[in-house]
Amino acid sequence: KIIILDFGSQYTQLIARAVREAHVYCEILPFSKEIKFDETVKGIILSGSPFSVNDANAPEVNVMNLTQHTPVLGVCYGAQLTAKQFGGKVERSNKREYGRAILHQQKEDALLKNLLPASQVWMSHGDSILELPQGFEVLATTDSIPVAAFKQSAIGNQQSANTANGQLPTANALYGLQFHPEVYHSIEGKKILRNFLVNICGCKQDWTPAHFITDTIEALQKRIGSEQVVMAISGGVDSTVAATLISRAIGENLHCIFVDNGVLRKDEYETVLATYKKLGLNVKGIDAKEDFYKKLKGKSDPEKKRKVIGKLFIDIFQKEAKKFKGVTLLGQGTIYPDVIESVSVHGPSVTIKSHHNVGGLPKKMHLSLVEPLRSLFKDEVRKVGLELGIPEELISRHPFPGPGLAIRILGEVTEEKVDLLQRADDIYVKALKEHKLYATVWQAGAILLPVKSVGVMGDERTYEFTVALRAVTSVDGMTADWAHLPYDFLARVSNEIINSVRGINRVVYDISSKPPATIEWE
Ligand code: XMP
Repeated sequence: KIIILDFGSQYTQLIARAVREAHVYCEILPFSKEIKFDETVKGIILSGSPFSVNDANAPEVNVMNLTQHTPVLGVCYGAQLTAKQFGGKVERSNKREYGRAILHQQKEDALLKNLLPASQVWMSHGDSILELPQGFEVLATTDSIPVAAFKQSAIGNQQSANTANGQLPTANALYGLQFHPEVYHSIEGKKILRNFLVNICGCKQDWTPAHFITDTIEALQKRIGSEQVVMAISGGVDSTVAATLISRAIGENLHCIFVDNGVLRKDEYETVLATYKKLGLNVKGIDAKEDFYKKLKGKSDPEKKRKVIGKLFIDIFQKEAKKFKGVTLLGQGTIYPDVIESVSVHGPSVTIKSHHNVGGLPKKMHLSLVEPLRSLFKDEVRKVGLELGIPEELISRHPFPGPGLAIRILGEVTEEKVDLLQRADDIYVKALKEHKLYATVWQAGAILLPVKSVGVMGDERTYEFTVALRAVTSVDGMTADWAHLPYDFLARVSNEIINSVRGINRVVYDISSKPPATIEWE
């Protein structure tokens, strides 16, 4: 595996994903964490950072020590830190460099092998490396900076050591890149990273979904043995893939629970349950619609609705789980972004992201967790899911909030309103799929507004509800833009909703981005 030491760059996860895409397993660690070196660690990548290496509180690691174990590649801040520690000069340059630059290769090297003569790379730095340390050489420049890529020339050669400066040659290869090979606009960045992984670290490119599945099933069988596992599944990608893996490992000893909370999408309970059965999951469906409607009665505050739904879900889950005798483990679909320890950009302090997995964790139950997807990014979960034979339709589903349609019905939730919204939402989502727009947006849904307005149908005056349609493009849900769906498409959906859902006589489209709006209305 490769270890990526994070100095707080916004791009660190992109490095990890690029490494994984090259079929090499990697893990992100905060820079301050001690690496446990063993024969599985093949290389280290130092990330970028919002800090300058010359800041008083700049995050540091001892690069020399790291190179005693494996090859090291510094990216941006990581490269500057390397240059500075070995005696080079890194300073705020009068020319800050952001955006595209063309790489001019100065020297043949395994790291830059098979690149085009003028390869576009992406820069984002205020400081520049003005002078390299002794014993280092420039591999590439750009028009505006003298050092865009470098390496230490004398690996493990004590004779050429510049001992006067206290600089010993490193035992393993040491490279630095001033640009960001991990970002999309560094056209051959992934090739450079692959060169580092394969040519320099000697990694085998065997991190594939098929391998992951075999290894994980084996590991699950070892870990679980003859014990019993209970798990809540939601119809979402993560819980479905996790449950399928556990089920392949232990079969009927996995007990899945799927709850109808009354605020799922139209027909979702039935179709998802049928898919689960087809996948061979040992699943129990619980129709708890009425319980949820009862508890939601009279509640119109969004946070109260969330709490009511969360608590009732846990109560039902606990009650059902107790019916399976001898359960000691709890399965969960936690994925890697939920557990990465991130470096706060407001100071080199380390915080752990709170994780917000569907269903919440019934702590009182005293069960140990089984989380087979803890090491995967979302796109890897999808690939594993497809390899497991889970239908494409389920794998490519948009995210859907735990409290479901309850937070898309503004104000009090009633069974009648759920029915109205389910029908409008279903028309919208089906149309998105039919017009091949579903995959182009990150999330979409209809929202029932607590607003009635006047309309006219035939000779009759109507006074009915309004539905807002929402569709956004996003990468992670943290920021989002409203999707520019074609007018023709919106016209057709509006027509169909108003003509076929009695109770709705007006449709509007939400054109707000996040921030300052949020994706959901509540
Ligand atoms: P917002 O509305 O905050 O939503 O822009 C961002 C993403 O989070 C989802 N979301 C939730 N998911 N429980 C969930 O499981 C919730 O209470 C909740 N609220 C928002 C939302 O659907 C979007 O994907």
